[in-house]
Amino acid sequence: MCGLVGFFNGCNLDVACPKKALNKCPSQSKQDSTRTFKNWDRKASVRSTPQRTEHFGDLLFPRELVPLLHSKKLVGLPKRDEENLRRSALFRFMNFTHKLEMLVVNTVTANIVMQRYNFSLPDQLRSDAHKIYVDEAYHALVAFETMNAMRVRGPKSLFRECVPNFLKQLELQINKEPVGRRKALIELFFVITSEMLITNTLGNVNKHKEMDESIRSIIRDHSADEARHHAFYRSLLIEVWDQLSGDDQIYVTGKLPELVLAYCIPEQEGLAADLVSLGLSKSESDVIIDEVHPPGTTLAYAMQVGSAVFTLINELSDSHSSDRLNESLAGMPKV
Ligand SMILES: [Fe+2]
Ligand SMILES: [Fe+2]
Repeated sequence: MCGLVGFFNGCNLDVACPKKALNKCPSQSKQDSTRTFKNWDRKASVRSTPQRTEHFGDLLFPRELVPLLHSKKLVGLPKRDEENLRRSALFRFMNFTHKLEMLVVNTVTANIVMQRYNFSLPDQLRSDAHKIYVDEAYHALVAFETMNAMRVRGPKSLFRECVPNFLKQLELQINKEPVGRRKALIELFFVITSEMLITNTLGNVNKHKEMDESIRSIIRDHSADEARHHAFYRSLLIEVWDQLSGDDQIYVTGKLPELVLAYCIPEQEGLAADLVSLGLSKSESDVIIDEVHPPGTTLAYAMQVGSAVFTLINELSDSHSSDRLNESLAGMPKV
């Protein structure tokens, strides 16, 4: 369903295949992506949905999607403070979306379109990649317009446009790798895995009460587009896997758990800033963040949302890569 699910770590999600959004489970064949994009002109949110950013309501995120509001220490918080936490969480989500689409997904999607990887790809897949590029640019625009509307309403001090954690993690991994070809593989598989992460959360936004209807529509539109992207990136993974050398397959397999985990690490700095803005000390805020993200839960969440990718890699791989994947999963930090 896409890397956005990394943002929802701590929200008690239902994790499931996005087959509801597709009306079928993305099947095992490479042909899926082509069939899925056949009606893109009629179904893509950029082509078919009304302008959502003209009718904003209160611009509050639902309580269920704000992990800090699950803290026992914040029970009885004054309404104004609670609303500020919900506003800040919404802004952070839009910032996460904006940077994910512009700086990561569309960089890689453009490389696929322009054949910058050493893979031979069918023209149909490249054509579908153009459509994804348009979708993601639209998702980024909607996120940015939401952030702008929030900044206009204020309070501005609450809204920090920043580099999200997942991007810092990606840069760290790329910088650590000395070989140029493998730097590109890290970036490519970061996007493949992110677009294949699964949860029902984005598709289930109807169940959340007290949610701004514009935001509900924005998330629902995005979710429907991402179900198509899931099928595309699954097909792409199948297409390129056999074109990788055995060594690169083992290398990529060993990296996958880290890549998935990178999406799920909480935005600690932003959460701490929110709590400090309520008048709490740094140490009090650390205690609350530990309470809502106890050790081990981020890893458990990452492994759940990444299960579709891990299963597919196991199906595609020989025993060397599968062993490497299991080794890497077993060695993940218990964050
Ligand atoms: Fe997207
Ligand atoms: Fe996507």
